[in-house]
Amino acid sequence: MEAGQPSRTAWAAATHRAAHQILEQGRIFCDPLALRILGVDAETVAREAAEHPSRRRMRIFIAVRTRFAEDALARAVEQGVRQLVVLGAGLDTYVYRNPFGDRLRIFEVDHPATQAWKRERLAEAAIPLPGWLTFAPIDFEREALADGLAAAGFVREQPTFFTWLGVVPYLSEEAAWSTLRFIASLPKGTQVVFDYSDPPESLSPEARATHDQRAERVAALGEAWVNYFEAEKLHPRLRALGFDEIEDLGPPQIAARYFPNRAAPIPDRGGHVLRATTT
Ligand SMILES: C[S@@+](CC[C@H](N)C(=O)[O-])C[C@H]1O[C@@H](n2cnc3c(N)ncnc32)[C@H](O)[C@@H]1O
Repeated sequence: MEAGQPSRTAWAAATHRAAHQILEQGRIFCDPLALRILGVDAETVAREAAEHPSRRRMRIFIAVRTRFAEDALARAVEQGVRQLVVLGAGLDTYVYRNPFGDRLRIFEVDHPATQAWKRERLAEAAIPLPGWLTFAPIDFEREALADGLAAAGFVREQPTFFTWLGVVPYLSEEAAWSTLRFIASLPKGTQVVFDYSDPPESLSPEARATHDQRAERVAALGEAWVNYFEAEKLHPRLRALGFDEIEDLGPPQIAARYFPNRAAPIPDRGGHVLRATTT
């Protein structure tokens, strides 16, 4: 991210969610606040998305990862989880739609510059700040998540659900693993959902070309993708930390779950969304 500036990819991800509400009628992920938080009219969002048809795949992936995370969160709350941490929240609107109300305490963690900008966006969109929300401004590259959360009143003794969407690719490997170590150190029943991509060199030529285009675009926004994982190495490392239940959807599993009738060929590798739990 550029020093002192809010994340521009956070704006891009929020634009994809808003476009999904309009172009696919929110079929995978329904978010009544997605457009409102942007402060842009529906026609503009739809026109810009239509002008860039190659961005559809990313839009659908973002809808899928958010739906996957919110479905898993709903199950966790039914099982008794009472704390949610939204890591690198960007313009994510879950807190403002939280169907569990006061039963779920929520911490929104983000880079201080992005969080300050989000608070302006919320005020401009007249979206009220609910009582169950606490903001925790933290730069993952400079501050320990544990310290930032403790300062915000996070209760370490409770199993907690973490969503961490669209963030891992932008972090150094050390920052990503330090966050995973912290999450794994929390009480049993703690879960994390995050997304990642297979390394570019392992992709098919077609997927590689799509990846490279997107990578160029985010790098031009000052937020380069620097971190990739391979499931074969990632899962044993997660297990070694104590995450003994892992659900990892790569492109074939995403297609099977969310697009069972799709006839087009599905690449083996690409974007993943993963849930890891300590049981
Ligand atoms: C692509 S956006 C994703 C936002 C949101 N999770 C979503 O899905 O729309 C990346 C997010 O990561 C955050 N981020 C990137 N580097 C960070 C860092 N070093 N510390 C804290 N947050 C960071 C940005 O502020 C931004 O909100």
